[in-house]
Amino acid sequence: MSESGGFTTMAGARADREAPHVGIGMLGYAFMGKAHSNAFKKIPYMMYPPPAIPDLVAICGRNPDGVAEAAKRYGYKRYYTDWHELIADEEVAIFDNGAPNNAHMAPTIAAAEAGKHIFCEKPLGRSPEESKAMWDAATRAGVKHMVGFNYRFLPAIRLARELIESGKLGRIYHYRATYLQEWVLPHYHTPMTWRLEKDVAGCGALGDLGTHLIDLGRFLVGEVETVAAMTRIFTEHRPTADGKVGTVEIDDAFVASVGFANGAIGTLEATRFAAGRKNHEIVEVNGEFGSIEFDLERLNELNVYWVDSEPKTTQGFANVKVSEPSHPWWSNWWPQGHMIGWEHSFIHELTHFVDCVANDHEVSPYGATFEDGYRADCVSAAILESARTRRHVDVVY
Ligand SMILES: NC(=O)c1ccc[n+]([C@@H]2O[C@H](COP(=O)([O-])OP(=O)(O)OC[C@H]3O[C@@H](n4cnc5c(N)ncnc54)[C@H](O)[C@@H]3O)[C@@H](O)[C@H]2O)c1
Repeated sequence: MSESGGFTTMAGARADREAPHVGIGMLGYAFMGKAHSNAFKKIPYMMYPPPAIPDLVAICGRNPDGVAEAAKRYGYKRYYTDWHELIADEEVAIFDNGAPNNAHMAPTIAAAEAGKHIFCEKPLGRSPEESKAMWDAATRAGVKHMVGFNYRFLPAIRLARELIESGKLGRIYHYRATYLQEWVLPHYHTPMTWRLEKDVAGCGALGDLGTHLIDLGRFLVGEVETVAAMTRIFTEHRPTADGKVGTVEIDDAFVASVGFANGAIGTLEATRFAAGRKNHEIVEVNGEFGSIEFDLERLNELNVYWVDSEPKTTQGFANVKVSEPSHPWWSNWWPQGHMIGWEHSFIHELTHFVDCVANDHEVSPYGATFEDGYRADCVSAAILESARTRRHVDVVY
């Protein structure tokens, strides 16, 4: 299947073979469970002809009533309250791990050992050691593996990558990336949740939001070699669900400057304390021949600037609507300008993964493998180490 075109008209695509079926076992039924289930359901008719048909075999969560309702709502054949049973299910070919970060490693390694292909949400591990163990297990088992760095699968980001890869920007000088949210500000009275607990999340804004920026930096610019960083905790104590007081031990915010192996430098920043910022992710790349800017809240657009554009009198950033049939993934959707949304990144990334599993394609370079998840976690670890020691730190892979 072509990801960047190849389907002639919206309704005119023809399937010239029966698509293979792959059984899906989904761990987690809340935010990501919903986003992934929605994506699997759309693949057979929107990504047409589908590379494979995902069969929704089973979904797993801890609350029996909640997971039973989720199975009914999303259309899974059965449900489990213990992930061991999900992995033991013989109809499950792809294990999709949408659980919190502390439930990434053990189920993922068990799934690999059971011969399941694995899609795991980001950050892959709570540490590089956990990620490496998952990558090693998947490699030993010879199964396909992919991490949920879904922003790689937005058409505008993929177009940015193609422009950079083709040399249109020339040498890259700068990468500037910001991811801001506001949901833990004092006026929200946010209690302790798993995203604020060190044991569960591993790290804070860095793991939750920053890892997306790290991955996009690696995807668009290249390998990160060195970092200098600062972190802050702004609210140390929060109420817990059982009426006690919890202590926040992970970053509410971080800033980092990074050096890439190819000589570019960059800045990364993420916080959940930015008033008015709901899900504000900006990525900018400045090269020898131009610049590219992406804004997640305007995700069908790229702002581009070309040094040699004419006429000079009206030179400036141009806004490109990324919705042409020739743009990545767009031939699966609507006529130009009939825009798509955030959830489509999951449809695209999971289409890619089922295609890799069913038709034995490589997940990389466009999908993030467990190696990419491990490398992102190595950069995160260097950022935390730099903040702790107040020194520049070279990333150790
Ligand atoms: N790619 C993205 O943009 C993106 C966005 C949000 C979250 N995430 C990642 O997805 C993962 C899940 O986040 P979420 O926002 O969906 O969390 P969530 O709290 O909304 O959902 C977690 C689900 O996991 C289930 N669960 C937790 N522990 C379990 C266990 N031991 N056994 C079985 N089920 C268990 C819960 O019942 C719940 O259904 C995290 O790793 C997070 O970082 C990625």
